[in-house]
Amino acid sequence: MEKIILTGDRPTGKLHIGHYIGSISSRIKLQNEGDFDKMYIMIADAQALTDNAGNVQKVRDNILNVALDYLACGLDPQKCCLFIQSEVPALTEMTFYFSNLVTLSRLKRNPTVKEEIKLRGFEESIPVGFLTYPISQAADITAFGTTIVPVGEDQKPMVEQTREIVKAFNSTYGQVLTMPEAVIPKIKSQARLVGIDGKGKMSKSLGNCIYLSDEPEVIKQKVMSIYTDPDHIKVSDPGKIEGNVAFEYLDAFVKEDSFEKFLPEYKNMDELKSHYKRGGLGDVKVKMFLNNILQELIAPIREKRKALAEHPEKVYEILFRCCDEANLAANATLAKMKKAMGINYREYFAGGNKF
Ligand code: TRP
Repeated sequence: MEKIILTGDRPTGKLHIGHYIGSISSRIKLQNEGDFDKMYIMIADAQALTDNAGNVQKVRDNILNVALDYLACGLDPQKCCLFIQSEVPALTEMTFYFSNLVTLSRLKRNPTVKEEIKLRGFEESIPVGFLTYPISQAADITAFGTTIVPVGEDQKPMVEQTREIVKAFNSTYGQVLTMPEAVIPKIKSQARLVGIDGKGKMSKSLGNCIYLSDEPEVIKQKVMSIYTDPDHIKVSDPGKIEGNVAFEYLDAFVKEDSFEKFLPEYKNMDELKSHYKRGGLGDVKVKMFLNNILQELIAPIREKRKALAEHPEKVYEILFRCCDEANLAANATLAKMKKAMGINYREYFAGGNKF
């Protein structure tokens, strides 16, 4: 079986280190390993509009932001297809047919959508498009014959729902769609990076992000304001690791050579953590270490991004080329679906058949 990878992001803001560690870094690794037949990365503008109907400008602006972040991080359009969702109309048509295979109660049970509805304060005024976006996501995934969906933990319910739709479609109309599988980062702090305030997931709407485009002094100031252990007041006090965002980030971002480079008096995270727990290790030292690690990670991304941002027309050229390619693949799947469903009327007549 072919190995086809697809994933994507909503263009609602610049990408942050939660995106990087939760998905972008593993995408780049996958891309560079090259062990696949096709890799697609989608900028999900149509999905972003499901709760931004009156905010098209924001979504439009962020298509470029996300594309710049992708390219700056090292996603390579020679190796993977970076396209815009709304440029592939077959996805919308597939969504319409899929929606006949999903019940309203099933949609309402989706834990990620539930949480999002609460966060946005929709209560009973949920846009239909928002409640049903998991169906459209099933179209995004199946249109390309995707086998692997590398995503953060919060996207697991979407892939689960997609799998149910694939099962329903194939058993109702015949084996057409490929069963996808989610691939989630194994380290917990990587799968769902907490925000700098420790209050929830890192997200733009909560204002608790460190962006891949942040300037050095902004990064430093954010790192210094990270939520740690509120009872760890004096350096000599014993400190708590659980719920301590500085340590969660260190767990997620520390590299093999980080200690040697930036904090040679410790060998590894275990040593650092036990000193902190014992007392005698101050927050500032921990945060300076984290700051060095994040500055090292973000600097080359930020600089490459700045250079790319000088020629947005070139970025769009890349995206449009990929959209053409994505259209070919999605149209082929849609044609197969319609044939299996028996709504390929033109093809039917052209083949000399009579009704
Ligand atoms: N729901 C994803 C997000 O919020 C974006 C997305 C849309 C996606 N379609 C997808 C992710 C298909 C993976 C596969 O970031």
